[in-house]
Amino acid sequence: MQKVIVTGGTGYIGSHTVVQLLGEGFEVVIIDNLLNSEASALDGIEKITGQRPLFYQVDLLDYANLQDVLALHKDAVACIHFASLKAVAESMERPLWYYRNNLNGMTNLLEGLRSASVEHVIFSSSASVYGNTTVLPITEALPARNAVSAYGISKQVGEELIDAALVEACFGSAISLRYFNPIGAHSSALIGELPKGRPNNLMPYITQTAAGIRQQLTIFGKDYPTPDGTAVRDYLHVEDVATAHVKALMRLLNGKNEAAHEAFNLGSGNGYSVLEIVQAFERANSIKLNYVFAERRPGDVAELRADASLAVEKLGWTAQRSLEDMVRSAWAWERKARGL
Ligand code: NAD
Ligand code: UD1
Repeated sequence: MQKVIVTGGTGYIGSHTVVQLLGEGFEVVIIDNLLNSEASALDGIEKITGQRPLFYQVDLLDYANLQDVLALHKDAVACIHFASLKAVAESMERPLWYYRNNLNGMTNLLEGLRSASVEHVIFSSSASVYGNTTVLPITEALPARNAVSAYGISKQVGEELIDAALVEACFGSAISLRYFNPIGAHSSALIGELPKGRPNNLMPYITQTAAGIRQQLTIFGKDYPTPDGTAVRDYLHVEDVATAHVKALMRLLNGKNEAAHEAFNLGSGNGYSVLEIVQAFERANSIKLNYVFAERRPGDVAELRADASLAVEKLGWTAQRSLEDMVRSAWAWERKARGL
């Protein structure tokens, strides 16, 4: 059994990836400080897979503790690094906190991996590394140099930290996966997105509105130069995102990578407007959603859409699940999590 260390493994995308890793026969060790997740994700993972991964509640900023944990798992073949703060607007209000958590945490991890002799790393990057581009669809040829939020900058610099760690031979090879907009939940409804506090992202805001936790959804902007005036994004199912991590891991383990550090976009290539997401949610779940229009959200662009053909070619990965799957599974999870 090959062992994989997963930071942020009790979080939204991490937990779905852990389920697939266990399903593929990997042994998983999770490191998470539960800043934005609950240990109950481990119960969901266990119910789905019949296995409970080893879990350490450790902050990546706590270098001594982190080193101790890594020293116990020197036989791990890879580390998948999800742990970070991820709210764009919050990162603009508290940029130093974001830089400290995401960059100091990552530096600690990468240095720690050297002494643990872990050979491969997969990094959760983001479409935000491309900044407010108007060149669509976005390919990896576009420089990852124009991030605008502190969050986006932390991802851009995070990719550069990977390069720096390669220079210092902390590990042998890495893949950065630049996700566009992951939504939805596991088909079992046993794991999903459960943000602490008021959600920033569209889908959890929709499901919490449907659940009556939020009074209404606010749609930011109806005057964008898009067919219905609301902003367009490239949404993809979280289970498809998880699959891409397993494929990226296999690429590294099989030595198929063509550079020490590769980067791939993860998107479906389909653009959906906010209104289309709302309508798809209402239709698939037979729910009427309460929403109002408001001003554009600062920092938002009209449209972001991925060209994911490099991931198709090199990872053998495509986004498989439909928009209906995404909105249906998101609601099934919210209902189950709230006992509705
Ligand atoms: P999440 O908040 O659900 O998961 C992140 C996990 O990291 C949480 O469980 C949190 O407790 C943990 N964490 C944060 N700081 C930590 C620290 N210092 N030490 C230990 N654990 C820490 O977020 P997610 O949506 O699952 O995102 C996972 C990764 O993917 C993040 O790096 C995020 O930036 C990136 N990403 C997410 C999206 C998205 O839309 N969800 C899009 C692009 C990229
Ligand atoms: C952002 C980041 C992305 C990051 C992701 C997760 C950018 C360009 N993208 O995506 O890198 O990984 O967050 O944190 O910085 N919306 C509403 N009402 C709401 C919430 C959202 O109308 O209550 C709209 C937004 O204006 C946007 C769309 O829904 O047009 C999607 O928003 P969101 O889910 O927050 O993701 P992004 O901002 O696209």
